[in-house]
Amino acid sequence: MRANNQVTLAKDIYWVGKIDDREVPFHRLVLAKGTTYNAYLLKTGKPTVIDTVDIEFGGEFVEYLKEFIDPKDIQYIVINHTEPDHSGGLGALAGQAPDATIVCTQKAVKELQEMYKLHDRTFLVVKDGDTLDIGGKTLKFKETPYLHTEETMITYCVEDQILFPCDIFSTHIANDQFFNDDAKNDITEDFIGYYKLIIHPHRRYVQTLINALKEMDVKMIAPSHGYILRTDVQKYIDLYASMSANTAADKKVTIVYTTIKSNTKKMANMLKDSFEKNNIKADVFNADKSEKEVILTSIKEADAVLVGSSTRYADMIGNLEQILTELPNMELAGKLGAAFGSYGWSGEAIEVIQDYLEKTDMNILNTSKVIKSTGMIDVEFPVRVRFSPKESAEKIENSASFISDLLLSTI
Ligand code: FEO
Repeated sequence: MRANNQVTLAKDIYWVGKIDDREVPFHRLVLAKGTTYNAYLLKTGKPTVIDTVDIEFGGEFVEYLKEFIDPKDIQYIVINHTEPDHSGGLGALAGQAPDATIVCTQKAVKELQEMYKLHDRTFLVVKDGDTLDIGGKTLKFKETPYLHTEETMITYCVEDQILFPCDIFSTHIANDQFFNDDAKNDITEDFIGYYKLIIHPHRRYVQTLINALKEMDVKMIAPSHGYILRTDVQKYIDLYASMSANTAADKKVTIVYTTIKSNTKKMANMLKDSFEKNNIKADVFNADKSEKEVILTSIKEADAVLVGSSTRYADMIGNLEQILTELPNMELAGKLGAAFGSYGWSGEAIEVIQDYLEKTDMNILNTSKVIKSTGMIDVEFPVRVRFSPKESAEKIENSASFISDLLLSTI
């Protein structure tokens, strides 16, 4: 696509991205239909570029941009998301746009500085609701953490009512029709497939975004992969709303623990409180004080089972092992499982519990699975806390929220 056949979204707003029609490796999959890296030029009084392209095409991106503008005139480069399929052209562009200020969230600054050696460049850090006058148009920013990484934000052009949400509302298709209403086929399946792969693991944050969008009048969505949504915009927002909604079905969690100094007991109760905040019923049992059969019945009826112990002499304590030895013989397929505990030195009991749980039919959570499926690095399984859990409330809540989101998912 050349400039003499330029793609125009609105007056002075142009697509300046890259169509990648290769079979692109992506999250251990191959994008059979390829993808696009959509970047946008707002050729206003203070010319602004929103997002760039994959790092492989940085040089090509800047050359294409030169067909629209002398890069030296660019005043702002907005980076909504630092992953290199969108920020990858920043190094090349910044080199030829020496006066451009880089606009991003606080969390993105260090990443961009390190990734593209931009320690000496000027950054403008924006927060929720901040606006930026770019000379004839106004940009408004909203932070969207975990959609789908921690530093992400979205940008809204107030005058043209165009939302630039980067990965959100994308599709992976190497299309050259650009707009959804020009697509040869119905894009709904591709749109949903993209959501499930990238966005759904963070659907808690999708709900927050959907509520925020109610305050904005979005006429067009210009994401950074695939089709620009020019018609039926509300249909696509509604699809995100429905796919990210919680199931109405009652869900239940069983938490079993043994404890020395009550720290693991406190963890159990903090987990219970977090589940209940998410409208999930949680039954808590001290394995040294409750009947084994009562605990096993509760486990049978639960959708998720959390087992914890303090550590003494490198092992769990009390009657917990009597419960754990029963679990591999029970029909527990379809349930989630996780280990937890407070410890002072090494916390071997938590690992021993994990080993026992791994022998069951349950889907046992571990940090590796969380990172591989969501990219999140602040959710850890087993849930390990040194001494008092008071200082680890956020970590405990994150773990319970992660499990809750899996249990309440409708898709
Ligand atoms: Fe399309 Fe998160 O990168």
